[in-house]
Amino acid sequence: MERSVKQLFSNISGTYDLLNRVLSFGTDQRWRKKGVALLPHGKGVCVLDLASGTLDLSLAYAKKGAGEIVAIDFALPMLLTGQRKTPPTLDSRIHLVCGDGLHLPFPNHFFDAAMCAWGMRNIPNTPAALKEIARVLKPSGSFLILEFFKPSKIISKVFSKTYGRYVMPALGRWISRDNNAYDYLRRSIQKFYTREEYEEVLEDHGFEIIESRDLTGGVNSLILANCYGD
Ligand SMILES: C[S@@+](CC[C@H](N)C(=O)[O-])C[C@H]1O[C@@H](n2cnc3c(N)ncnc32)[C@H](O)[C@@H]1O
Repeated sequence: MERSVKQLFSNISGTYDLLNRVLSFGTDQRWRKKGVALLPHGKGVCVLDLASGTLDLSLAYAKKGAGEIVAIDFALPMLLTGQRKTPPTLDSRIHLVCGDGLHLPFPNHFFDAAMCAWGMRNIPNTPAALKEIARVLKPSGSFLILEFFKPSKIISKVFSKTYGRYVMPALGRWISRDNNAYDYLRRSIQKFYTREEYEEVLEDHGFEIIESRDLTGGVNSLILANCYGD
């Protein structure tokens, strides 16, 4: 039987950051920086980092400017790995919650913005996840998504059939010592929406697309949407 997503990420938590740097040729941090620059910052601003993993997106947000971050992930070892690397100067602004993205333990209209880097694909029920995000966002709150969508352009299809099929799983196995984790990554991308399909799902669930674009030839993508509110 296939392992649960929670077990999978718990198992690779110690090597996750290194693998991200290697597999993305060091560009993943640049993508996070680009993303957080689009979100509001300031004293009193509170942002949700959904599926926060080892906190790289939370840290990018915190380094960019003022604001509080609530980071939620259901794999505790990922959060603890992130906590260990958080500098004391940022520690008091990043609040950790171990929990499920499908049942966010926060009141309605609590956050000024939400962000999710390479997490939405892992949450099985996209409509339910989007409803939860819309519920906890304030009206007009921004939602930033960085994601590997199903390839729809020639260059990203070729990349997926070569690098994604052969190089990524082999490097993933070698560095993480986990036989299946990076096969899962490729399969999950193939099963997910294209960026254009995902825009429609967002619009059907109370979001207005503000910006949507491919990064690095469509291998990675960024979407910024605003929540309509009730
Ligand atoms: C690919 S990692 C992304 C981590 C991080 N956002 C980053 O920038 O590297 C996906 C994360 O989603 C988390 N995750 C998957 N499904 C989840 C769910 N239903 N609720 C909370 N976290 C979830 C996993 O535990 C994992 O840490």
